[in-house]
Amino acid sequence: MDIVNPALDDYLLAHCTPADEILRDLVEETHERVPDFPTMQITHDEGEFLTMLVRLTGAETAVEVGVFTGYSSVCIARGLPAGGRLIACDVSEEWTSIARRYWQRAGLTDRIELHLAPALETLSGLPQEEFVDFAFIDADKVGYPAYYEALVPRLRPGGLIVLDNVLRAGRVVDPAAQDEADVAIRKINDTVTADARMESVMLPLRDGVTLARKRA
Ligand SMILES: C[S@@+](CC[C@H](N)C(=O)[O-])C[C@H]1O[C@@H](n2cnc3c(N)ncnc32)[C@H](O)[C@@H]1O
Repeated sequence: MDIVNPALDDYLLAHCTPADEILRDLVEETHERVPDFPTMQITHDEGEFLTMLVRLTGAETAVEVGVFTGYSSVCIARGLPAGGRLIACDVSEEWTSIARRYWQRAGLTDRIELHLAPALETLSGLPQEEFVDFAFIDADKVGYPAYYEALVPRLRPGGLIVLDNVLRAGRVVDPAAQDEADVAIRKINDTVTADARMESVMLPLRDGVTLARKRA
């Protein structure tokens, strides 16, 4: 199922702040080197959306779960102020080695800390206090419920968690779609909606994006 009418895809991309040369090169290199492209990397309009959310929330400390080759981390880190910090979680040395080169090129290495380990280990090892302003979850779908539960207590009141792929190309409403990832995404979608600690909205941006804000 197309969440957005394909006839509108190019129009949407053409009516958002254009990607700079660094992001365009990153897309091209990812396309060449990673056969799973384009399903893994976020699109440019979503990247702009992340930068804007980070700026609008005034976030200084961010967490990303799922770096891949670095598109979303560049977009998040660019929204942070000087002295800001992005805790970036992934398990792939190969893919994040590409990300690291682009962080360098974009002048963002001072604000991105890469943690190469299963994300739940990294998140569980973070201080158990409310210090995170912004988080983006875009890793293995089965892990979403656990990543969310690890992040909410560490989120500052007013802080934002953004979850990607919450519509799974429409599989969330297909009763025949019952793989582990489908079940996990339905579970996290229901959990977020019912979570009294949070207020949330699900948007039909690309494959579906949920914004969940911790009540202040
Ligand atoms: C969809 S991609 C992320 C795309 C990225 N946000 C971007 O904009 O290009 C998912 C990433 O999650 C990572 N991942 C999968 N399982 C993980 C885990 N248990 N812990 C941390 N990262 C994981 C994969 O290595 C992969 O790089």
